[in-house]
Amino acid sequence: MDKKELRSRGWFGKTGKDGFIYRAWMKNQGFPADEFEGRPVIGICNTFSELTPCNAHFRELAESVKRGVWEAGGFPLEFPVMSLGETLMKPTAMLYRNLASMDVEESIRANPVDGVVLLCGCDKTTPSLVMGACSVDIPTIVVSGGPMLTGRYRGKSIGTSDVWRFSEAYRQGQITQEEFTTAEACMCRSQGHCAVMGTASTMACMVESLGLTLPENAAIPAADSRRKVAAHLSGRRIVDMVKEDLRLSQILTREAFENAIRVNAAIGGSTNFVVHLLAIAGRIGVELNLDDFDALSREIPLLVNLQPSGGYFMEDFYYAGGLPVVIKEMLSKLHGDIITVTGKTLAENCANAECFDPEVIATLEKPVKNLTGLAVVKGNLAENGAVLKPSASLNPDLMKHRGRALVFEDIDHYKSRLDDPTLDIDENTVLVLKNVGPKGYPGMPEVGNMGIPKRLLEKGVMDMVRISDGRMSGTGFGTVVLHVSPEAAVGGMLALVQDGDYIELDVDARRLHLDVSDEELERRRAAYKPLELGYDRGYVNLYINHVTQAHEGADLDFLRGCSGDKVTRDSH
Ligand code: FES
Repeated sequence: MDKKELRSRGWFGKTGKDGFIYRAWMKNQGFPADEFEGRPVIGICNTFSELTPCNAHFRELAESVKRGVWEAGGFPLEFPVMSLGETLMKPTAMLYRNLASMDVEESIRANPVDGVVLLCGCDKTTPSLVMGACSVDIPTIVVSGGPMLTGRYRGKSIGTSDVWRFSEAYRQGQITQEEFTTAEACMCRSQGHCAVMGTASTMACMVESLGLTLPENAAIPAADSRRKVAAHLSGRRIVDMVKEDLRLSQILTREAFENAIRVNAAIGGSTNFVVHLLAIAGRIGVELNLDDFDALSREIPLLVNLQPSGGYFMEDFYYAGGLPVVIKEMLSKLHGDIITVTGKTLAENCANAECFDPEVIATLEKPVKNLTGLAVVKGNLAENGAVLKPSASLNPDLMKHRGRALVFEDIDHYKSRLDDPTLDIDENTVLVLKNVGPKGYPGMPEVGNMGIPKRLLEKGVMDMVRISDGRMSGTGFGTVVLHVSPEAAVGGMLALVQDGDYIELDVDARRLHLDVSDEELERRRAAYKPLELGYDRGYVNLYINHVTQAHEGADLDFLRGCSGDKVTRDSH
């Protein structure tokens, strides 16, 4: 590629006053003059933050990327963007995914970068960075931060999904406060993101199956030196991608999205995958809807035996061969000929993959479970659809269920009511939580996997049908129907459900039905008062006025699409 065509020449290639200004201030960092004479400039988009513990090792990771960029003749420049830490941010990191994506988009476009390396880790940092980069569409490669080493507690392997088990055991008095606190230190014992197939690992697998990373990127533990090697090699590769002008839009075709959906079903990925992939597709201009997720996931069984759907951890997944083994096993069901960031096809990337542990990565012939990792249900209770993860159900009998609703009007109502001893409930009750959708909360928090009422837990009930317009942590499990659209806060049918109503879930028939007569629903509709969404300033105001429903990706309506890499005005 002719050096004159590099985007960065619009800054560093200028003569006169403008060129002086663009270069002179950069030289205060000690860069010699020839760095500005036509090397591809590679932005390293860093979500490092001590408030995002899963990404707290990213300064080091960025140094490995830089080594690779320098080696390949590029000029690396690291820049920070808003970092979204899942565990600390209130009310929920999801509220800020779209804001972070705007930061990423504008930071890339406004600066003299020819290609970009996205350093992603904790749940929302992957979709926000990919969404933002898609709206600019320059050569881009993703480097994930990698999962933590498997936690060890009293001789047992533990990970994030055990938080729910520990907290249920604590609620029932089966473990002491001291044991609970000890488990905290045992679970997160190295740098990296959650060690199970939660949302962060799902996102890392998503970008690998989309073709946006080097092979094996998803599973290498953060603490393994091979994680740094992957970062180093990605630094080398992005320089070549700039020379080849290999952009996101060439990689992110409809076929690439179809591959990612099928792989997600096979790995038992997080239900959050749906809302994030829809948002990414919306940015790059690929048509995708909930029905695609259902149709493409339908005949895909669970191949990966990782928590929360199975028993192992990301570290085991890496030692077993990682995602390339899954992709190779599934090639007959994938578009193997799509191009990836390596410049090779998806099939070529996994040609040498080998499974070293069939307990962890199974085959299509003998899968871990026949239940798929994702299903979309529809009906009068979710006209635009709702999602659930059959592979994470603890009681497959609940896949077809009819039960009476116990309704929580919002999260506070749920907290105050769940353990009310006077409630008329049993294991057949369907728990319904309203007003935790994109607008209603706002921000669509991960509260959909409501706890089992204490007195049922004591009777040994471990799973119940739960329905809400919120999300569930990728590390959560159970028969949990999520992302009900339209949400209660915009007058969806969910808003009209009352205690004692019968609800029918039939996953095989993909049906979610509120069994109440049309006349009664009409009566309730007439009496319905919309929720007051009381935020009149700042980002939250912008968010509630523009966020789309879950089945559309919960992006801001004006962010869909791509504005390209041209700056709005080219002057200084
Ligand atoms: Fe960051 Fe789980 S909290 S990945």
